[in-house]
Amino acid sequence: MFEHLKALPADPILGLIAACNQDNNPNKIDLGVGVYKDDTGHTPILDCVKTAEKFRTETETSKVYIGPTGDPGFNEQMTKLIFGQHQIIDQNRSRTVSTPGGTGALRVAAEFIRACKGNTTIWVSNPTWANHQGLFSAAGLKVESYPYYDYETKTLDFPAMMATLAQVNPGDVVLLHACCHNPSGMDLTVEQWQQVTALAKERGFTPLIDMAYQGFGQGLDQDAYGPRLMANELPELLVCSSCSKNFGLYRERIGGFTVVAKDSTSADIALSVVLSVVRSIYSMPPAHGAALVNTILSSSELTAQWHSELAVMRQRITHNRQMLVEKLIANGVERDFSFITRQSGMFSFLGITPQQVEQLMSDYSIYMVGSSRISIAGISKDNVDYLAKSISAVIK
Ligand code: LMR
Repeated sequence: MFEHLKALPADPILGLIAACNQDNNPNKIDLGVGVYKDDTGHTPILDCVKTAEKFRTETETSKVYIGPTGDPGFNEQMTKLIFGQHQIIDQNRSRTVSTPGGTGALRVAAEFIRACKGNTTIWVSNPTWANHQGLFSAAGLKVESYPYYDYETKTLDFPAMMATLAQVNPGDVVLLHACCHNPSGMDLTVEQWQQVTALAKERGFTPLIDMAYQGFGQGLDQDAYGPRLMANELPELLVCSSCSKNFGLYRERIGGFTVVAKDSTSADIALSVVLSVVRSIYSMPPAHGAALVNTILSSSELTAQWHSELAVMRQRITHNRQMLVEKLIANGVERDFSFITRQSGMFSFLGITPQQVEQLMSDYSIYMVGSSRISIAGISKDNVDYLAKSISAVIK
C-alpha cells in the first residue's frame, strides 16, 4: 500500500526548526517558528507555571480519563479570560471545551462547522497562518480568501477586505485573527472590528475567531476586543484559543474551543455536537496544561505573576521591533522598514523576495518563512547587528 505514496515537502514553518537545528554556524538566527525567546535565545518556562506544576505534582491523585470536555475549571477560566465579565456568561450562552492546542481547537471548529452544514465555505485572510488552508480543507470545508494585507503599503487593505466580505453568503464562516495577525502583524482597529461586526450582522455570516496570541499584542483585554464585541452583537460566534504562547505551554498542547449560541438550549445542542466531534478525533484532550492554567487563573497571586511575566514578553517583542528598525538604519539601509514598529505581536513580513530569503538562509544562516515572515522574538541585542548587516547585504 505504501508504494503509492509520494514524499511531501516539510511543513513551511515547522521544517525550519529542523533546518536551523542542523546548522552549525554559531551566528545562526532562528526567526522561523512563532515561539517566544528571551534575550539569550531560550524559550523559558514561566515562573507561575513552575509553581503551578509543583502544586499539581503534590496534589494530583489520579490519572483517570478526564472526558471529552476536558477540565471544567480550565474551560470556565478560559471563558472568563476571553470574554471578561460578559453578558454571555450570565445568559449561559457559551460552551468551552479544552483542546490539544490552538490547532486542535481549529480542527474541532472545522469539523463542527461541517456538522452544522456540509460544504460550508470558510473565508480566510490573504495572507493567513500557513496551516489554516490545509487544516480547513482536510476537514472538508471549502476555503476562500479575502484581501487583507497590502504588500505595497505594508498596511491593512480594509476597503478591499470589506468589499469582499460584503459578498459573502449567509451561512458562510469568516475567520478573523483576534490580535497579532499571523503572519502580517496588522490588526483590525476598534472601529474596523465594529464595521466587520455590523457587516456580519447584515450578511448573516458566522465569525470564527482565532485567538492564539491573547496578551502578546496590546494587553489581555485590548486583544480580546473583537470577540467581546462580536459576542455582544451577534447570535452565534466561534472562538479558538491557545495557551501555547501566552502561558508558554507550547508542548503541553492546550487550547480551547468556544461556541457562543443564541441561547442556553442552542448552546447545549451545539456542545453535544462538539463532544461527538472530539470523541471521533482524539476522544479527550490532554489534562496537564489545562490543570496548570486553571491553577494559575484560580489564584490571584499566580494570576498577578502571570500578568507581569506576560508583560515582559510583550514588551520585549515591542522593543525588538524598534531595535531592528534602528539597526537597519544604522547599517545604512535606505529602504523604509519603519512599518515593523507599527505592527503588533510575534510577526511581520520583511517584504523581501523569496530569493533574498533563501540567500539569508544559505549565506548567513538566518532562518525565516519563505514569505519573509519573521518571528520578532528571535531577535536579540546580541544578534541584531548581524541580522541588520545581513539584510542590508542581500537587499543591496
Ligand atoms: C507559527 O505560526 O509559527 C506558530 O503558530 C507555530 C505553528 O504551529 O505554526
